[in-house]
Amino acid sequence: MKALENARVLITGAGVRIGREIALCFARRGARVVVHYNRSEAEAEALLTELNDVSSGHQSVQADLLNREERRALIPGLIGQGQPLNCLVNNASVYRRCPLAQVDLERIWTDYEINFVAPFLLMRDFAYYCDEGCIVNILDQRVATVDPSASTYGFAKKSLRDAMEAAAVEWAPRIRVNAVAPGIVLPPPGVSADRIEPLLRNVPMGQVSTAAEVAEACVFLAQAETITGQIIYVDGGMHLAGPSVREVDEADYSAAD
Ligand SMILES: NC(=O)c1ccc[n+]([C@@H]2O[C@H](COP(=O)([O-])OP(=O)(O)OC[C@H]3O[C@@H](n4cnc5c(N)ncnc54)[C@H](OP(=O)(O)O)[C@@H]3O)[C@@H](O)[C@H]2O)c1
Repeated sequence: MKALENARVLITGAGVRIGREIALCFARRGARVVVHYNRSEAEAEALLTELNDVSSGHQSVQADLLNREERRALIPGLIGQGQPLNCLVNNASVYRRCPLAQVDLERIWTDYEINFVAPFLLMRDFAYYCDEGCIVNILDQRVATVDPSASTYGFAKKSLRDAMEAAAVEWAPRIRVNAVAPGIVLPPPGVSADRIEPLLRNVPMGQVSTAAEVAEACVFLAQAETITGQIIYVDGGMHLAGPSVREVDEADYSAAD
């Protein structure tokens, strides 16, 4: 997909935060964006209005990706509208921290289902229903490090990284599959921004990465016709800064749990 002009792009969890920025970035390049949301209906509809001021052909779609029927219907439903889908951005996620000793079965299932099973099944459906195109998975710089208290969230993102690499091989040259791995971009919902400051000690560049940079990396990968199986780390070098048995006590940072 050299040019994004008129490409139809499904972005999951696009109503707010990083997903919203990705949607705006694709729309500015001429893509027609499908804004997926679950609970953020008002925000998704407001974004749709904003996107339609940029260009035309955008739409929204609601689906709870933890609901098997809704998840299964998402991509065939969009294809059934008579227009092909050219790109999938798997952005929706839930970030929860938990010491390994406190992980219970509910947490394992839920963290894996939203952070690995759902994006993997959407990748599979995209490969099944679409003749060609590209997929961008939003990972986390933790896929390159060890962060015990990110626990099942981190393990699920690592599984998604592995699935991305396997799919890149199996589905080439028809479908390219890549990933963007952000570092510190936004504090978890409900956590104040000043909690980020101490964490920047773990970032060689000493600053947060922006949602706009994450979005630009997605757009780059969507257009990079010979790149597949690649991860772009948008993290100020954080994943290179050694094992993340963190110097900083991140307990406060998990207040949104
Ligand atoms: N924030 C960071 O600094 C950071 C750092 C590293 C990696 N990342 C990755 O970047 C991506 C975006 O991060 P973010 O902080 O913007 O994400 P977020 O706000 O935590 O979540 C994004 C969206 O996921 C959707 N979602 C959650 N559960 C869902 C479900 N059951 N069904 C459907 N959608 C569901 C939500 O949609 P609704 O609101 O519509 O319910 C939510 O708005 C994620 O993949 C995250 O892992 C972020």
